[in-house]
Amino acid sequence: MNFRLSENGETEVKIAVSGKGGVGKTLIAGVIACSLAKAGLKTIAIDADPSPNLALTLGLSQEEAHKIVPISENKELIRLKTGTGYSGVFRLSFTVDDIVRDYSVETPFNVNLIVMGTVRSMGSGCACPENAVIRALLRHLVVERNEGVVLDMEAGIEHIGRGTARHVNTMLIVADANMKALEIARNIHELSSKAGMKQIFLVGNKIANAIQKETIENFAGKYGLNILGFVPFDKKVLEMEMLGETPLKSKESEAVHAVEELCERLDEKHLISWK
Ligand SMILES: Nc1ncnc2c1ncn2[C@@H]1O[C@H](COP(=O)(O)OP(=O)(O)O)[C@@H](O)[C@H]1O
Ligand SMILES: [Mg+2]
Repeated sequence: MNFRLSENGETEVKIAVSGKGGVGKTLIAGVIACSLAKAGLKTIAIDADPSPNLALTLGLSQEEAHKIVPISENKELIRLKTGTGYSGVFRLSFTVDDIVRDYSVETPFNVNLIVMGTVRSMGSGCACPENAVIRALLRHLVVERNEGVVLDMEAGIEHIGRGTARHVNTMLIVADANMKALEIARNIHELSSKAGMKQIFLVGNKIANAIQKETIENFAGKYGLNILGFVPFDKKVLEMEMLGETPLKSKESEAVHAVEELCERLDEKHLISWK
């Protein structure tokens, strides 16, 4: 993979991973982040799921993962950033680059992890200080910094914020062969295009047979979704997780290999690199 920077020094590697709960977003986001880091790109993974568990996929132990305090739950930090001394009144302008420096966690595959914590309905304009900090931090990571970014999100895209969403270079929507997951994928696809995201792809995960693959292909064809590729159902992933280990540590996980190939495919399409 080749990650040259554009003339103004920006990287275009800003990837968001979205989809229904349980479809495999965290596995895919984690493997992608590690592949980018392995290819030599300084990479930050953002866990923006309210029940965060990206840390384990990135290779941290359960104990290490347990110790991480999500940004939105770090009351001292939120107060420091937004406090005015008056209750109910908070500052809207503050620096966040130091948050990246002080609160990102190094992980064994050289990805820096930031755990955002619960982001309450950003789209609806909730104006609590936690959201102000997280929104500013997301914007900083996606818009202002030059590192590669992989964002593991909950189902929607609402909490990214429109201005920030436009700067996400690639949206990967994960679905398995389940109509509920596919319907959610279709909704995310609509929202992402409206938000101005550039490359939006469907990734079919947990594929166990040809019928499942066809189901996803037919759905994608019907609603105009582009498929980036498929990831097989792989019991190795479950075996590793049962042991509290990341599937990335298994040399023979077909799912991990398939996700690494997806990453290569993005690179070949020149979607995530500047040549
Ligand atoms: N390709 C796959 N093969 C087998 N199991 C998978 C695969 N992808 C994900 N899983 C399993 O499915 C469950 C949900 O995956 P996860 O990545 O946590 O989903 P999400 O982040 O979308 O909620 C996990 O137990 C994970 O190990
Ligand atoms: Mg998840």
